[in-house]
Amino acid sequence: MLFLQLVLFVVLLPDGGSEDDFQLPISIRMILTSSFYNHSWTQNQGSAWLDELQTHGWDSKTGAFTYLQPWSKGNFSNKELKEQERSLHIFSTGFPPIFHNHVRQWQLEYPFQVQVVKGCELHFGKALECYLRIAYQGSDLVNFQNMTWQPSPKGGSRAQQICKLFNQYYVVNKIVHVHINDILPRFFLGLLDAGKAYLLRQVRPEAWLSTGPSPGPGRLLLVCHVSGFYPKSVGVMWMWGEQEQWGTQRGDILPHADGTWYLRVMLDVVAREAAGLSCRVRHSSLGGQDMVLYWEQPHSMGLVFLAVIVPVVLLAGLVLWLWKCW
Ligand SMILES: *[C@@H]1O[C@H](CO)[C@@H](O)[C@H](O)[C@H]1NC(C)=O
Ligand SMILES: *[C@@H]1O[C@H](CO)[C@@H](O)[C@H](O)[C@H]1NC(C)=O
Ligand SMILES: *[C@@H]1O[C@H](CO)[C@@H](O)[C@H](O)[C@H]1NC(C)=O
Repeated sequence: MLFLQLVLFVVLLPDGGSEDDFQLPISIRMILTSSFYNHSWTQNQGSAWLDELQTHGWDSKTGAFTYLQPWSKGNFSNKELKEQERSLHIFSTGFPPIFHNHVRQWQLEYPFQVQVVKGCELHFGKALECYLRIAYQGSDLVNFQNMTWQPSPKGGSRAQQICKLFNQYYVVNKIVHVHINDILPRFFLGLLDAGKAYLLRQVRPEAWLSTGPSPGPGRLLLVCHVSGFYPKSVGVMWMWGEQEQWGTQRGDILPHADGTWYLRVMLDVVAREAAGLSCRVRHSSLGGQDMVLYWEQPHSMGLVFLAVIVPVVLLAGLVLWLWKCW
């Protein structure tokens, strides 16, 4: 832990201290997808993602970035961002013709998609790693390392031919090299710093219990809903006393529009044995104090009767008796 903090201290905060730390690994990914429909028709789409959070969009017509978070500009100036917009525009117009012109030679078949993915990953105890890869129809084709393009293992002869061509563009590759080794990591670290308060926020979940569709006669499907939490990592267990129950079904962790998360965890039980079960929620926002929700029989009029009506009747009787005695 101390090491992690030291790494982040050095990497992120050369001039200041902080007790906060990111959950590693954390990554940035910028994706340009070119869809080639026919010889004269290409469509480009671009976006940037910090782990699963989209931070940027891109208008392929105007070439303008859209900033989806208030901190999406990181620490780059508007001038620097304009330069990046310009270089993406040049790339996105110059890149597709290369593929169109080599459709035969590289044995490409319309319609096809080419994805250019660049990004950086910050791993625990490691130096920042940045990369640039190109994929064809969703599988890795070539990647850029140390000023040279290299075929991916599964890229075949197509990848080798592409590398041979791309490696001739020395000046372009020099620019790409600077981009991947200087601009991109600077932007990533600046973005992490700018978004720190948002990315390190802690939002408490709300939790409630319900039943799902009955799994069979005499059985109940108990559902524990946990909603609105951040960060994503959460522990939700069905318990019998201190004993974790096996056979729980965990749903996917789904996003809310505000960037928080939702999860439900289900347990199929014999109806009679449901009482005494509880759902335990463990999350970093709860400060080490788990949230525990106990299952109570729903619609048990008998219990309501005993708990409410009987005391009222007894009380009325007592009042009447006292009044008579008086
Ligand atoms: C290319 O595809 C577009 C969109 O599907 C279509 O409108 C256009 O007519 C096509 N052009 C040719 C030359 O096939
Ligand atoms: C990168 O390329 C340079 C020059 O070609 C070479 O000296 C260096 O060892 C290479 N580094 C790596 C990590 O491959
Ligand atoms: C942005 O932040 C990064 C990381 O702290 C730093 O290396 C860089 O110099 C800062 N400024 C710019 C304009 O990149």
